[in-house]
Amino acid sequence: MTSPAPKKLFIKTYGCQMNVYDSDRMADALASHGYVPTNELEGADLVVLNTCHIREKASEKVFSELGRLKELRDERRAAGEDMMIGVAGCVAQAEGEEIIRRSPAVDLVFGPQSYHRLPDLVTRALNGQVIDTEFPPEDKFEHLPAPKKEVTISRGLTAFLTVQEGCDKFCSFCVVPYTRGAEVSRPVSQVLAEARNLVEAGVKELTLLGQNVNAYHGLTESGRAMGLGELLYKLAEIPGLERLRYTTSHPRDMDDALIEAHRDLDKLMPYLHLPVQSGSDRILKAMNRRHDRDEYLRLIERIKAARPDLALSGDFIVGFPGETDEDFEATLAIIREAEYASAFSFKYSTRPGTPGAAMDNQVAEEVKTERLARLQALVTEQQRAFNRSCVGRTLPVLIERIGRQAGQVGGRSPYLQAVHLNGAVEMIGGVRQVEIIDVGPNSLVGRLVAQAAA
Ligand code: 5AD
Ligand code: SF4
Repeated sequence: MTSPAPKKLFIKTYGCQMNVYDSDRMADALASHGYVPTNELEGADLVVLNTCHIREKASEKVFSELGRLKELRDERRAAGEDMMIGVAGCVAQAEGEEIIRRSPAVDLVFGPQSYHRLPDLVTRALNGQVIDTEFPPEDKFEHLPAPKKEVTISRGLTAFLTVQEGCDKFCSFCVVPYTRGAEVSRPVSQVLAEARNLVEAGVKELTLLGQNVNAYHGLTESGRAMGLGELLYKLAEIPGLERLRYTTSHPRDMDDALIEAHRDLDKLMPYLHLPVQSGSDRILKAMNRRHDRDEYLRLIERIKAARPDLALSGDFIVGFPGETDEDFEATLAIIREAEYASAFSFKYSTRPGTPGAAMDNQVAEEVKTERLARLQALVTEQQRAFNRSCVGRTLPVLIERIGRQAGQVGGRSPYLQAVHLNGAVEMIGGVRQVEIIDVGPNSLVGRLVAQAAA
């Protein structure tokens, strides 16, 4: 008996790392139904766009891509073949039926809570369009298959692990509480089991993910809620796991236990993504951030007191409704004060259904463009200064791949900087002490520090 030829699955992932993780889970869920992932759109039997709704540009991209996919499918059908088109993720959750109305070629629309039902949804879509964007009361995490290394696309030495989803913070600009729903944490035993599984499969670095990851409060077997700090101590005990990270955090949820974890755990990388969004108290209030500028700066001082080599990364929004020149200057001032090693910055984008969209003092597009350019120039300057400050330091580097030039290998510093150095393939998978000797535009150049013989 011969088994049927495997079907090919092409997933295009937009947006944040949680979508990268979800795309892997979709591939895992479909693997048992004969789908193998492919990096080529040509010849794919099922194409899934895993979408992002955080800003308008991100969601509009999906509709132009769907136009291209429809043409491709028309060509395939003309050649006697076929292709199924699915839309997943936050645009699917937010727009639902509207997607099929705007792009009738779509066969399947499903939200972030339905990935474990994917094989069933695909089967149903063979008989007509399917929309599944409910938030079911059941725990979607319960149903996901254990990750299988051989079928995943993005995993290697580093992996993402979603520990928490959704958000209860309701920042007034943000769609996440509406698209991803209320905050849910995965039980501790599930997280630990998945982490062990990944480490056994060769993963050396784990990044814990959640829209508001430090609000984590997963239940233990005895029914006690465990915070992210304590969870990190447990994960750090896994033999063979070298590095831990987590993203994205809210300043209000940086509790003492988490700060202590930064003090105590060598495996926890000294690099923290802690968005402040604005440096103006007036705007922070309008954003419903529930912290002010001083509280944020004092918090950073406490974290750096616990872990002096910690570097910061952040997110900023320019042109939130009502933002004056003075408010914007306050944002530049907090960037100078907090000294970010890297940052992401965005023009405010009105998201339907959020309180920000209903505010009447929207900022003109040209003003946003000009402010974003000034902010990004400052951040780039700081990032370069931070990279230069690494020259002369010896940093542990996780060696991840062979380098572009012969005899070189490449890896990442604790601060996620790309580092390349002379070295052999056998070094891949290890963490080595590397002296940073130079900076390039996008990476650091290092040299292996001779290690004393054991
Ligand atoms: N407009 C612009 N940026 C936004 N972000 C979230 N919502 C919006 C919006 N409506 C940014 C925030 C957040 C990051 C993931 O995206 O900075 O931290
Ligand atoms: Fe959105 Fe983050 Fe605010 Fe939650 S904490 S509403 S995910 S910006």
